[in-house]
Order: sequence, then structure tokens, then C-alpha cells
Amino acid sequence: MKLSFLLNGEPQVIEDVEPTTSVLDWLRVNKRLTGTKEGCNEGDCGACTVIVIDENGARAVNACIVFLPQIANKALRTIEGISTLDAPHPAQQCMIDHHGSQCGFCTPGFITSMVAAQINNDTNHDVTLAGNLCRCTGYAPIFRAAQACEGTKSPKWFYDDQSDLRTLAQSVDAKLPTTTDELANILAEEPETTLIAGATDVGLWINKDLRDIAPMAFIHNITEMEHITEHSDHWKFGANVTIEQMRVWSVDAQASLTPLLTRYASTQVRNSATLGGNIANGSPIGDSPPALIAMGAKLVLLKKDTTRTIDLQDFFIAYGHQDLQSGEFVQSILIPKNQNNLRCYKISKRFDQDISAVCGAFNLHIKDGMVQGARIAFGGMAGIPKRAKHVEACLTGQKWDMNTIKASHDQWSQDFKPLTDMRASADYRLSVARNLLTRYFYDLSDNPTEIQEVSA
Ligand SMILES: Cc1cc2nc3c(=O)[nH]c(=O)nc-3n(C[C@H](O)[C@H](O)[C@H](O)COP(=O)(O)OP(=O)(O)OC[C@H]3O[C@@H](n4cnc5c(N)ncnc54)[C@H](O)[C@@H]3O)c2cc1C
Ligand code: FES
Ligand code: FES
Repeated sequence: MKLSFLLNGEPQVIEDVEPTTSVLDWLRVNKRLTGTKEGCNEGDCGACTVIVIDENGARAVNACIVFLPQIANKALRTIEGISTLDAPHPAQQCMIDHHGSQCGFCTPGFITSMVAAQINNDTNHDVTLAGNLCRCTGYAPIFRAAQACEGTKSPKWFYDDQSDLRTLAQSVDAKLPTTTDELANILAEEPETTLIAGATDVGLWINKDLRDIAPMAFIHNITEMEHITEHSDHWKFGANVTIEQMRVWSVDAQASLTPLLTRYASTQVRNSATLGGNIANGSPIGDSPPALIAMGAKLVLLKKDTTRTIDLQDFFIAYGHQDLQSGEFVQSILIPKNQNNLRCYKISKRFDQDISAVCGAFNLHIKDGMVQGARIAFGGMAGIPKRAKHVEACLTGQKWDMNTIKASHDQWSQDFKPLTDMRASADYRLSVARNLLTRYFYDLSDNPTEIQEVSA
């Protein structure tokens, strides 16, 4: 594989590199750029945060779970490349001024996250820094540093990188398809090819499980799959749309999804992770499937010469078994519009950056106080994301009140036989799912539960 990209403003062309080399390993081992730290090597701590720049802008990502082919034709900025010769970047100066660093191990990651946020004019520091862990300074000084950096000017190198990218020789490789036709051909020839989109799952297969995933194809360059388009009654999401793109879209288009998507991993992970990957991995604890199933989303699956559209709920057959034929891939997701009664609840041990123990999505159609229809879907309650069909049937046609909710009590165990694991016990899962219906009732009655409120 021959790849070209910019590193701290300098063009790089690399050949004969193992495609599953992480950006982090390459920076530290091959370039001796050791400012980017390795903490967890699985996307959790943010010590390895770097900035990726392309025509869409700048975004913070975790270098430990980004493979080199994923930065082909893009510009990469590490902590070594963000100051100028005569001055530190304002984020660096603010960290000094506000005593934001003690041992310093996390500091390059915090600063790169702050710089990406500064370029994007994003001052929601709770969100932009949720993916960076610090074990000694404490977050208050770091937060103050981020606040002090607000309103400072984006670095000149960001604009230089964007303009230099236009003249950079393009990396071309058979395993870097740029169209769905090319991808369909690859899969027709080698159906066992591992597709890599954001690599936030696959990166862990390499780093932690030491798996051999050859043959593989990197699909992030397929631009026709990276857009969100509006249609008369639905939105079409290309499979490569990132979770962060979706989160930003949701603010105006489907606000009840925003709280869930904001608690999906961290900014760095959301900037890489794709919606297609979150569905295709078949995980029973992925956060988007319950919400999408509750909304009645459909999946468009492509294969050389054939396309089929199925209900997303039917894609998940059994644990580890999806309705994906040999040679097929997820091309797009169709999401019906205006789901006013949708509410999604993520239950996890930690508020930020945690995987769901239970994730529930409720979408009831209520008219004149009566439940006309119900779609309720859960993750973490079965081997697949699954609808609560018995509960739905029990609610439908009934008055929307607490008596109806109480009457559905026994139906939950008909729908779900959850497992006990490190995230939660089976009993906890079942009772929290039941309780979420009550929370949904209060939410729809304009009496929402404030889950971060602490009261004695
Ligand atoms: C630190 C961390 C935190 C996380 N937190 C969350 C969380 O809060 N909620 C959550 O739901 N998930 C979470 N995840 C899991 C992960 O981010 C998601 O599952 C993600 O959406 C996967 O997308 P991806 O593009 O990175 O997939 P990849 O890792 O690239 O691929 C995942 C799987 O999908 C397949 N695939 C990808 N695209 C396609 C396609 N178009 N067609 C067919 N197959 C395809 C791949 O071959 C692979 O089998 C977390 C992961 C990490 C590392
Ligand atoms: S080393 Fe922890 S997120 Fe990469
Ligand atoms: S300063 Fe030591 S981990 Fe943050």
C-alpha cells in the first residue's frame, strides 16, 4: 500500500507498510514523535489524541485506533505540530496559566482536543473533553484553561493544511475503494474481506485480540456513503456517516436523539465511528440500533448487481448473526422523519464515555389519551437489539396512564431474559427497563427526570 498524507505540514509518502499499523505506533516508533502518548490503546483515555484535517474541517481522533490508511490524503497534526516557532498555541499557554498539568502524561491529548475544539469554535468543554482522562491534575484547572482559550484565533496551519491537501498526490490502492461499485467488486471477488470504516471496533480486534483480519478493505473514502440527505418522509444516512455527524444533525432534525448520541463514547470516538459500523457489527449493546428500530428505520444492503431494503429490526437475527449475505454491505440507513414522541435512555455505570448496560428507546403514538401504536426497542436485554413486543401489545389500545404502565409489569419478562455480566445483573436490567417506561411517561407529560440532579 502506498499512502500519502501531510504530517505537521510536511508531505509524507509511505510504502510497504502493514495496513493495520496504528497512527499511534507509526508516530512513536517510525517518526519518534513521542508527544502523542499511549495510555489504554483502546480508545478510552484520549492520551493519543491527534487532529485530522481534510476539506470537511478538523477533528480530534484517537491515534491508537486509527490505522494509517485511514489518514491517506488527509493532514495530521500532532502535539509537536501545533505551536509556531515563536509562540505556543493559545491552548498550551492557557494550560500553563491555569496550572492544567501535573505529571503531564495526559496533557498532549487534552491540548490537541482543545485545539480541535478551538478550530471548530466549540465551547462545550464538557463534551469536547469527555474523552480525555487525567489522573492527577483534576479537571477544574483543565476546564478553566479550556474556557480561557475560548475566542482565540484558529491557527494559520489549519488553513495551510487544507490548501496544501489540494495539491497532494492522491493515494490510490485497490483496498481503498472510492465508490460503492468498487467495494461491491472487491466483495464479489473476496467475500470474506473485512471492511474497515471507522475502526473503533476493528482497532480493538487488532490491538487487544491480535487478530489477523486479512483480506481487508478501507471504506472511509467512499464519499457517496458519507452524506445525510433529506427526502419527503425520511432521512437517508450513508453508512459512512459518523456518529458525530449524526449527533450534530440531530440537534435540529431529531432532538430526542441528541442526549443519547452525546453520551456515545467520546468526541474522538464519535469522529471516527460510523453509523454503518454500529449496525453491521451486530452488537447487542450498540447505542444506535434500539433508537433506530423504535423509529422504524430501514437498511439498504448492496451487493454486486443487487440492492435490497429491509427493516432494521429484521437485520439482527441472533447473537453474532445478521441478515447480511455473502458479498453484501450496508450502503445506507433510512430514518422516518418527525418522531415527536421518541425518547432514548442510556443506562451505564459512568455518565460519559461508557458502553450501555441497557439502552431503551420508546416511541408511542398517543391520540386523545389513548395509545394508538407502540415501538419499544432495547439493547443490553437480549443477544440482539430487540423490540418489546409483549409490552407494546399490552399498551396498545389502552389509556396512556400509570395503570396501563403497571399492567405491563409482567410483560417485560416475556420479552426479555437478560444476562448477568460485568455491566449489570439480569434482575437490574429487567427492573431498569420497566422503570424506564415510567420515566418515559413523565417525559411525555413534560415532567422529565433530571438524572444528574443529586438530592439528599
Ligand atoms: C472507547 C470506545 C467507546 C465506545 N463507546 C460506544 C458507545 O458508547 N456506544 C456504542 O454503540 N458503541 C460504542 N463503541 C463501539 C464502536 O464505536 C461502534 O460500534 C462504532 O459505531 C463502530 O463503527 P466503526 O465505523 O468504527 O466500525 P468498524 O470498527 O470499522 O467496523 C465494525 C464492524 O462493522 C463492519 N462494517 C463497517 N461498515 C460496514 C458496512 N458499511 N457494511 C458492512 N459491514 C460494515 C466491519 O467489517 C466490522 O465488522 C465504542 C468503541 C470504543 C473504542
Ligand atoms: S491510548 Fe488511550 S485512547 Fe488511545
Ligand atoms: S497531569 Fe497527570 S494524568 Fe493528567
